[in-house]
Amino acid sequence: MDKLVIRGGVPLKGSLRASGAKNASLPILIATILAPGEHRLVNVPELADTSSTLSLLGRIGCPSLVDGDAVRLDTTRIAFSEAPYDVVRKMRASVLVLGPLLARQGEARVSLPGGCAIGVRPIDQHLKGLEALGARFELERGTIHGRAGRLVGADIQLDMPTVTGTENILMAAVLADGTSVIRNAAREPEVVDLGRFLQSLGAHIEGLGTDTLTVHGVARLSPPSRPYAICPDRIETGTYLCAAAVTGGDVEVTHTDPTLLTAVLAKLEEAGCTVHTTPTTVRVQGPARLRPFTLETEPYPGFPTDMQAQLMVLATLADGTSELTEHIFENRFMHAAELLRMGAHIEASSHTAVVHGQERLLGGPVMASDLRASAALVLAGLAAEGPTEIHRIYHLDRGYERLVEKLQGVGARIARVEDHVAPEAALPAEPAAARAAAP
Ligand code: EPU
Repeated sequence: MDKLVIRGGVPLKGSLRASGAKNASLPILIATILAPGEHRLVNVPELADTSSTLSLLGRIGCPSLVDGDAVRLDTTRIAFSEAPYDVVRKMRASVLVLGPLLARQGEARVSLPGGCAIGVRPIDQHLKGLEALGARFELERGTIHGRAGRLVGADIQLDMPTVTGTENILMAAVLADGTSVIRNAAREPEVVDLGRFLQSLGAHIEGLGTDTLTVHGVARLSPPSRPYAICPDRIETGTYLCAAAVTGGDVEVTHTDPTLLTAVLAKLEEAGCTVHTTPTTVRVQGPARLRPFTLETEPYPGFPTDMQAQLMVLATLADGTSELTEHIFENRFMHAAELLRMGAHIEASSHTAVVHGQERLLGGPVMASDLRASAALVLAGLAAEGPTEIHRIYHLDRGYERLVEKLQGVGARIARVEDHVAPEAALPAEPAAARAAAP
């Protein structure tokens, strides 16, 4: 297995390019099932989760070809209607095949995802919405088996604005007979991007980006003639901006959309950063010392739970006490325990973390527990004194395209090596060039 070795303390400077959004790519790749034929997508990030999705689609009978950020998919035939345990176990988003398979095939089997490092994460709302459209479900040995005749439009009230739940129901509703209304729908930009993709296939959807989606079902959908471009990854963008903040650096992220990051940019300003935006770029300059702040995660357009771990690293270095409250997931402070090992001062209870900022963090060996917790440890390593080793980095491969390359491009001292390699061997205490130049 690989690990990351980081030598922190270098203020990051320069420009890097945002990738396409993971959480838009996954539902959009899966939504191609709804329109038989050949699809072309661009700005698809090369990630472990993208490969898992394409391999799932391959097992269903839809082959694909990847060329950099471009993906061709042939969804002409569906051979199987099942997402087996070995795929779902690796990627919870596999549950997104339920809606499209029921709509196209009238049948779907999906192994139940179970819990994960950030909480129990049930799918009751997905099932409730699909049942309202006419599907029937049975649980068979850990696998949910859905059947449906032609789906029929319905009025669906979600208990909470679940992101993948809204997406699953939306993908089923576009091929249902008549009109569906999804109330308390998720407003996340990734849901909007999926909706736009569905519109490009011929779906009739009103209210994208609001909490009420109205869908007028159509009899069939077909692949668009032009390639569809996935929206930029706002969480990846935000993570790199935080890297500028914690190192006192100056980083610009290009090919992104600052309007998707309003709550995050406001928090960075509150923490003392200077933020400059253009329609497609964001630049953040970190201050000499960060300021403390309070933060509460909320559904979009509130502060995203997927940036909470990264902001906690800013709080560990702030000049005072910050308070972070997590409202979306029940167990999303796993990074706090690892940050304590780096000298941070955090009191975390189930939903609130009180962070007493300090002047420095100290590098050391740490363990990644989930994707965004891993990103937080990378940020802590970039800010810390001495080498940091991050183990279990397969989590990062799920969601950050070419992370090491991108960070090296803005001056970070970071390397990916096999677990047994000593940090000194991976990254000498000073860069070779500096040592050679020394008298
Ligand atoms: N929930 C239920 N029942 C349901 C669905 C959700 O109780 O049927 C609860 C969840 O347990 C959670 C809350 O509702 O407490 C919100 O969960 P949501 O369904 O919105 O999350 P998700 O769709 O499973 C997506 C992203 C996550 C992101 C969340 C919140 C994808 C593939 N995943 O998950 O992304 O944190 O929305 O914005 O889109 C990540 O990228 O690291 C990641 C975890």
